[in-house]
Amino acid sequence: MCGIIGIISHNNVQHMLVQALKTMEYRGYDSAGICMLEDAASGLKNVKEKGKLQHLQQALKQQPLTGNLGIGHTRWATHGKPEVRNAHPHQTATLAIVHNGIIENHQALRTELQQTGANFLSDTDSEVIPWLWQQQRTQFSNEKEAFLHTLNTLKGAYAIAGLQAHDPDKLWFARRGSPLLLARGSSGVFVASDALAVAGEADEVMYLQEGEWGWTTLEDTYVFDVQGKSVALKWQAMPHMVSATDKGDYAHYMLKEIHEQPRVYRDILHAYTDVSGSVHFPQADFIHNDTLPKRIIMVACGTSYHAALTARYWLERYLKVPVEVDVASEFRYRDPVIGDHTWLITLSQSGETADTLEALRLFKRRTPHNKTLAFCNVPHSSLVRESDGLIELYAGPEIGVASTKAYTAQLMALALFSLQLAQQNQALDTKEVQQHIQALQYAADHVDVLLQESHQFDMLTQIFSHAHGALFLGRGPCYPLALEGALKLKEISYLHAEGYAAGEMKHGPIALVDKNLPVVVLALRQYHLDKVISNLHEVQARGAKIILITDLPKSECPQDVDAIVNIPEGDFFSAPLIASIPLQFLSYNVARSKGTDVDQPRNLAKSVTVE
Ligand code: AGP
Repeated sequence: MCGIIGIISHNNVQHMLVQALKTMEYRGYDSAGICMLEDAASGLKNVKEKGKLQHLQQALKQQPLTGNLGIGHTRWATHGKPEVRNAHPHQTATLAIVHNGIIENHQALRTELQQTGANFLSDTDSEVIPWLWQQQRTQFSNEKEAFLHTLNTLKGAYAIAGLQAHDPDKLWFARRGSPLLLARGSSGVFVASDALAVAGEADEVMYLQEGEWGWTTLEDTYVFDVQGKSVALKWQAMPHMVSATDKGDYAHYMLKEIHEQPRVYRDILHAYTDVSGSVHFPQADFIHNDTLPKRIIMVACGTSYHAALTARYWLERYLKVPVEVDVASEFRYRDPVIGDHTWLITLSQSGETADTLEALRLFKRRTPHNKTLAFCNVPHSSLVRESDGLIELYAGPEIGVASTKAYTAQLMALALFSLQLAQQNQALDTKEVQQHIQALQYAADHVDVLLQESHQFDMLTQIFSHAHGALFLGRGPCYPLALEGALKLKEISYLHAEGYAAGEMKHGPIALVDKNLPVVVLALRQYHLDKVISNLHEVQARGAKIILITDLPKSECPQDVDAIVNIPEGDFFSAPLIASIPLQFLSYNVARSKGTDVDQPRNLAKSVTVE
């Protein structure tokens, strides 16, 4: 969701603000804006534009700003349409803020503030913050008290950066429920949603904890807790960050990221396995040292949830303990029964997904003695910092909003995790584990070949030219793969698509079948092949257009299907890693044929930091 940045510097901050917003555009691209302050006499200067950051950049060319203090925002709309008047920063005559999160009591506050003269210009929840802050400034002569009272009046989630028109030397900030960090380097001090935003500028970083707030000048930083007590500053070295702003020769980040997958598979294998074929997770020692759990709960959202669903098949087969998988937004509100000897596994590309974080916090509150493990692509994220162990995904920054390489990285890491637990449980011996690891290594090679021959997926696109939707069918680990194939198509081509367990198809969705409903059937030898082929015949008999993705040789494939995609055969663990590739190309190619914005599809954001 929205990306926020605040900078106080020795130099003009306009360029740095825009650069930071550029790295955070994945958080939202409905509108963008910056507000800067030159000196106490000049007043706040605000420039905002609807749409992507490039529109703001154009506007700033016409109307450049000056000042060494500034805040910026890239928006994913929650309250109020993507219009200039709803874009941040929001300001009064005396102060301005940028906000990420949701202010739940905004309606009541708006009514109260209007009665005392506030003149709201937007439909956003965020605009109550500057008016409330201004009102508190009139009530408390002490500006620390005024800001604390402002924060304590707000209900909901926020990360805020703010400045006051009379004070060009002070940048304010606060965090509750939405991520925020402080950073500093030779060019200045920063407040940002994401460390990526200040990579290259900052040498040190400090991740704010829940409820922390304060202000910073160029020389001194002050951080307080919810009661207003001083908190010790914990600067740490800025983590090394790979900048991924370059698409190279690829038309889209998504295509680039699809092509990076063999490298990602190999990096994960290299990080967690050794030549003898044993698996080790150095940032999650408890996996190796503790007794095995009696139950595992896996919680995630979207694509990460689909990866968890696949792992359930792997874990239950060999660990023989119940594995429960839930979407985080349901888990956190359904009063879950947890019990002892239970591990919570969270999965997240970003590590900042609000629902997943809250699910983790609920689990920890209820059973602090149980262990928590994060599979995450961002090692310094909130999710990782709050978990007992980390299995890092090593996918590198994923810029395309539709997840590809982070998803298959999750599958690869989950496969290794399942193999390790299977070995500890003596369900697989060392030799068997080695064989499965080898199959995972072959998966990287197979994907290399599929990528070289990716033109074979082009023929699928025309099957979708008159489609009113699409159905994806699979059984076993191919069922969550079907869910993921459908999600990918929805996200970037805006075509309605459903993933279904192939065996469930007769219980309803078969009614949708007609000649304009392409049905993608995932039929792999590892997962109930004969039954899936029977399901294929059932939809084929009703006139559906069939796209068969299979590891069967052509000679053994059912006849008269509309398209066959042959992929190399994998084993019980590696097969989904190979079968993901044609699904990614299918959605990518259909989206391109429809002319949609592949990397920044409408209404979506990469990091969902509000619930
Ligand atoms: C993936 O294509 C989606 N954009 C989305 O479903 C995503 O997987 C979900 O929001 C969870 O994000 P996370 O992995 O960063 O927690």
